[in-house]
Amino acid sequence: MDRQKIRSDFPILEDLIYLDSASTSLTPEPVLDAVLDYYHDYRANVGRGIYRTAQIADQRYRDAHRKVANFIDARVGATIFTRNTTESINMVAMGIGWKKGDKVVTTIMEHHSNLLPWMSLNKVGVELKTIMANKEGMIDLADWEKAIDDRTRLVSVSQLSNVLGMVQPVKEIAEICRERGAMLLVDGAQSVPHMPISVSEIGCDFLCFSGHKMLGPTGTGVLWVKKPEEIEPLLAGGGMVEGVGDHGYDIKQGYEGFEAGTPDISGGIGLGAAVDYLRDIGVEEIHRHESKLTRRLLMGLQAIEGVDIIGPQDTKGRGAVVSFNVTGLMPQEVALMLDSASNISVRSGHHCCIPLMKYLGLKYGTVRASMYLYNTKDEIDKLLSTVEQISRMG
Ligand SMILES: Cc1ncc(COP(=O)(O)O)c(C=O)c1O
Repeated sequence: MDRQKIRSDFPILEDLIYLDSASTSLTPEPVLDAVLDYYHDYRANVGRGIYRTAQIADQRYRDAHRKVANFIDARVGATIFTRNTTESINMVAMGIGWKKGDKVVTTIMEHHSNLLPWMSLNKVGVELKTIMANKEGMIDLADWEKAIDDRTRLVSVSQLSNVLGMVQPVKEIAEICRERGAMLLVDGAQSVPHMPISVSEIGCDFLCFSGHKMLGPTGTGVLWVKKPEEIEPLLAGGGMVEGVGDHGYDIKQGYEGFEAGTPDISGGIGLGAAVDYLRDIGVEEIHRHESKLTRRLLMGLQAIEGVDIIGPQDTKGRGAVVSFNVTGLMPQEVALMLDSASNISVRSGHHCCIPLMKYLGLKYGTVRASMYLYNTKDEIDKLLSTVEQISRMG
């Protein structure tokens, strides 16, 4: 992997150290080109027209769905384009015909987007069970076994925590779900962009992720559904029906039945180009590179007096998301200092995980550095040296 060549596709990196890819990634030139080509050369609606540009648009938009489905090794089901992970999870929460007394199982580590949609089902009598983790984000499989019972309709878990960086054993959780007759939703917002994912191997029922966290345009996300008939489409309208009768309609098979109205066509095509870009480099290769940077960052932070790492202290079973705090300083102060002293962009605060922050006793949250394929060890060293200077002020 030629890092300099990759970096030349992200001109914004010339005067910025971007360590906030868990929030949203940067966009490489080939993705921008794909978006612009649509507008310049063949802008038309999809699934409607028969003229030449409409057919090209249709073909490219379909290709994008196919590329994304291949990327997650989806051999069955529908790969639906949404705006983001949040919309994908809400489509499942609102699309299932819940019964009073149904149970949803999730964990204390979830992002609000994988918590609030389940909390809101309280009004239709759905019970929410939250499994606790240890301070490093580990959950015993026995706890999953205990929590998932025959009333459990759905289990929803983030594969990689956006705060602690810990990876959950989703394949084993899927097995427990199968035994108990529950469905499994995997929130792949932080995993799909960074590690090879196969929905066929995991054996889940739903996978939700964000295109904008994996080099795609903002406003793009994905919901993969193993059995589309398990959920009702969130929206009804143009483009999603086979036929309309006097009192009802038949929805189209596949993703089209779930994408009523004109979709984000350029965004979808851009996401297809993002997947091409990631595949050309290789997701395993990206994961290896990120693990090296994560190890360097963890070791460096451990050596700085007054710095506390929140989450696992080594790279085993974790992704390229590292949360930490500096004694005597608020996370927001540290983030501002990193920006003003060294042009380093990191996230600070509760990371949309207020229940986890309360559980960990972190009133102001953490500083979070998150890495991607375009980051370098020199950037990590710059982060470390700046944190060291800042820690002397704490
Ligand atoms: C684990 C996890 N789930 C869900 C989301 C929500 O993603 P989006 O804002 O793209 O909907 C995020 C965003 O950071 C996340 O980290």
